[in-house]
Amino acid sequence: MINHRGPEFAELLRETTTGLARLIGTQGEVFLLTGSGTGALEAAVVNTLSSGDRVLGVSIGAFGDRFAQVAEIFGADVDRLDFEWGAAADPGRLAAHMAGAEPYRAVLLTHNETSTGVTNPLRELVATVRAAPGDPLVLVDGISGLGALPFEMDEWGVDLVVSASQKAFMASPGIAIAAVGERARAAEAEARMPRFYWDLREARRWAEKGQTPWTPAVSVLYGLRVGVANLEAEGREQTWARHAAVASGAAAGLEALGFSLVPAPEHRSATVTAAWLPDGLDWGEFGSALRSRGLVLAGGQGKWTGRILRIGHMGDVAWGEIDAALAVMAETLEALGRSADPGAARDAGRAAYDALAGVGAV
Ligand SMILES: Cc1ncc(COP(=O)(O)O)c(C=O)c1O
Repeated sequence: MINHRGPEFAELLRETTTGLARLIGTQGEVFLLTGSGTGALEAAVVNTLSSGDRVLGVSIGAFGDRFAQVAEIFGADVDRLDFEWGAAADPGRLAAHMAGAEPYRAVLLTHNETSTGVTNPLRELVATVRAAPGDPLVLVDGISGLGALPFEMDEWGVDLVVSASQKAFMASPGIAIAAVGERARAAEAEARMPRFYWDLREARRWAEKGQTPWTPAVSVLYGLRVGVANLEAEGREQTWARHAAVASGAAAGLEALGFSLVPAPEHRSATVTAAWLPDGLDWGEFGSALRSRGLVLAGGQGKWTGRILRIGHMGDVAWGEIDAALAVMAETLEALGRSADPGAARDAGRAAYDALAGVGAV
C-alpha cells in the first residue's frame, strides 16, 4: 500500500478521476468514494436534497425502487412513476405525469436496470425532465451502464450520475463513483439532509489536496486506475459497440437454445441479458448444474426470483466467453433431459455478434 496522504496517491486520484470524466463526458467533478454503488446513491440524495423536497422516483425494477427508497428514508416526499418490470420508462408518460404534477425538486432515473436487463432511453428521459416545470435536478443511477453504454453527462443535461468500480470499470468492488455537475454542486449548499461520511463538500475540500476525507480502498483504486486506462485505450465508441455486439450475440444464442428474452429488442441492455426460465426448469437446479460446469449466471431478483436468468457481460468481455457460456448452457440443458442445439446457438450467436462487430472480430 501507499500512503493515502502522499504524492503517489494524489497522482492515482488525479489520473483516475480525469480519465473517468472523459469517459462520462463531463467537465464537472468526479469523486471516488469508498463504498459500494448503493453508498453513491445515498450520496446523490443527501447532498442535493432536504427533507420534504418533492422527488419523483422513476422505477423500472429493483434498483429504481432502491433509489426511491433511499430518498424516502431520508425524508424526501417521493412520488413514484413505476413501469412494468421488463419494460423501459416511457418519456411520453413521464412528460404527461410531470405536466400534471406540482414541480419536483429532483427526478431519480436508472440508466440500466440490472434486475430486468433493460436500458432506459436515458437521453430522452433527461430531456423530458429538463423541459418540465421547475427544471428539477436529474440524478441518475448509472451503476451498471456507465463506461459500457453511450453516455454524455454534460450534453444530455445530467446533474449527477453514480457508478461503481466493480461494474464496467472491471475493478474489484469497493469504490463508488459520483460525477457532479454545476447544478448539483449548487444544490449541495441548500441541501439539509443529514450527511457525514458521504458529504461531498468534505470530499471536494480534500480532493483539492489530492486526498479523500476518509481512508480510501487504496487497493481497489489500483484496479480502477487500470480499468479506466483500458477503457480509454479502447475508446468510448469501440467499447459501446463491443458491448452492443456481445449482447446481440448473447440474445440470439439464448433464443436459439429456446429461451425467450425478457425485454423487447429495442430496450435490451448491452451489459446484462435477461431471459425467462422455461416452464418446469428449476433455477436452483439449473443454476447449480451450470456452476458445477464452471458457469456462474445470475438468477432473478425480488419478485422475479426463480423466474429469469441473467448473463452479465460488462467490462472485459469478448465474444469467446459468451460462446463458451452458450455451449455450457446447451450441455447442461441436455444433461437435465431437455433438448438443446449447441450448434444452432453458436451459429446464431456468432452471426448476430458479427453483424454488429464486423466479420472477423474476436
Ligand atoms: C443499477 C444498479 N443500481 C444499484 C446497484 C447497487 O450497487 P452495489 O451493490 O454496488 O451497492 C446495482 C448493483 O448491481 C445496480 O446494478
